[in-house]
Amino acid sequence: MHEGALLSDLVACALLIGGVKAMSHPRLARRGIFIAGVGMLVVIVGNAVFGPAVTGLRAGLAFLAVALGGGLAWYESRRVAMTAMPQMVALFNGLGGGAAALIVVTRLFEPGRPTGLVLLFGLLALAIGGLSFGGSGVALVKLAGRWSKPLRFRFQNGVHALLAFVILGVGVGVLLHSGHGSRLVVLLAVLSVFLGVAAAAPIGGADMPVVISLYNALTGIAVGVDGLMLGNPALIVAGTVVGASGILLTRLMARAMNRSLGQVLFAHFGDAAASGEAGSGTYKEMDLADAAVTLAYARRVRIVPGYGLATAQAQHKLAELTELLRQRNVEVRFAIHPVAGRMPGHMNVLLAEAGVPYDLVQDLEEANPEFPQIDVALVIGANDVVNPGARTNPASPLYGMPVLDVDRARRTLVIKRGRGTGFAGIDNPLFSAELTYLLYGDAKAVLGQLVGAIKSL
Ligand code: TAP
Repeated sequence: MHEGALLSDLVACALLIGGVKAMSHPRLARRGIFIAGVGMLVVIVGNAVFGPAVTGLRAGLAFLAVALGGGLAWYESRRVAMTAMPQMVALFNGLGGGAAALIVVTRLFEPGRPTGLVLLFGLLALAIGGLSFGGSGVALVKLAGRWSKPLRFRFQNGVHALLAFVILGVGVGVLLHSGHGSRLVVLLAVLSVFLGVAAAAPIGGADMPVVISLYNALTGIAVGVDGLMLGNPALIVAGTVVGASGILLTRLMARAMNRSLGQVLFAHFGDAAASGEAGSGTYKEMDLADAAVTLAYARRVRIVPGYGLATAQAQHKLAELTELLRQRNVEVRFAIHPVAGRMPGHMNVLLAEAGVPYDLVQDLEEANPEFPQIDVALVIGANDVVNPGARTNPASPLYGMPVLDVDRARRTLVIKRGRGTGFAGIDNPLFSAELTYLLYGDAKAVLGQLVGAIKSL
């Protein structure tokens, strides 16, 4: 390997690792993404300058691919709504897996095809990348709400196991027939994509966050194994970092939803929009002036934001309300559920964007024991993450998922537009509970009115 390429790969590795480290803190996350992006740029430029010479049509095609892919990603990332971010992640992730698989296909069709262990790495990257491409595609469609009914049939897991077995057999076939396995390589790619689609088809939308982070890990692993095949240190490091962080995130998300990964992948419960019925029971409304007084004269307030805060883009109004209450010596904290919103860290990102001090943010374990001593729990556009049925109703699809115990606070105010259900599409007994009061309206508008009313007290 050229010394220049080795040096640029080393610099890139340091940047990628440093970037991921910075991403682990909300305050530094933006900088982390920038640093990792610079790392990727160093890899591309370093390999173009010092890597094996690529000339003529191939150089033109490579340039076109980088320009088209980079341009599209830049354009889409700028205009995507925060609430559509999970779909975006699924898309980028699937394309990453597909690219990892295609690198193997091109390498295996070139003269001087690898053999032995290097070929084995290539086949692994092909199978894992294909699987991630197919599965992420299904996740994208499901997260976009265009495929709501999970596809299920009897002996489905058995069929998937058989398919995985066939893929293994085809892989062994390619290994044994070095020189004659081109058709088998294509078959392996097609079957892997198909298995990715088939495995994701029966998984309910509520479990999609866990699944998408699993596919994220798989794409990382495919890229890392690509690096082993090509002898490229930057790919090995980038892939391993993504794979490892994806696995950690998958574990965290599964734990937050009280599912094991095996249950998510093979037991198929937790359907999104399983029932879709609006909430039952009688909801009590509180008028705005009373709500303003209730908040302004409380001693301790806990704010629980959810997906509705993101759709309303109400984070700045919320920061204003928080500031106002704190000026009145109200103790305000934010209780954040790990799967509130539609992507990991969704609420933390919104609060950081609005400049809410990070030391006001509590996680579920910290917040729950305090609710019985809290005067007002203010729920803003959250539903599933505050559903007490997850604790008390074994028939609920959310049963077993840890939730924020706002129903144990002395009083709960809920801002929502109507009787709409949350992501899981089920009733929430919190809204008809004795100590719960509704403030109807768009989160941004209601928070704005509360700010006005408290200022005039
Ligand atoms: P949800 O359960 O989705 O509830 C959102 C609530 O916000 C709805 O009840 C809706 O009621 C209200 N709402 C919507 N727009 C609003 C607006 N403009 N103003 C005021 N209220 C508004 O949200 P959650 O509690 O955050 O739970 C998240 C759910 O998403 C979980 O089931 C989780 O598993 C799932 N999920 C999470 C992720 C990640 S990684 N976070 C990814 C995918 C799925 P109205 O219609 O009545 O207003």
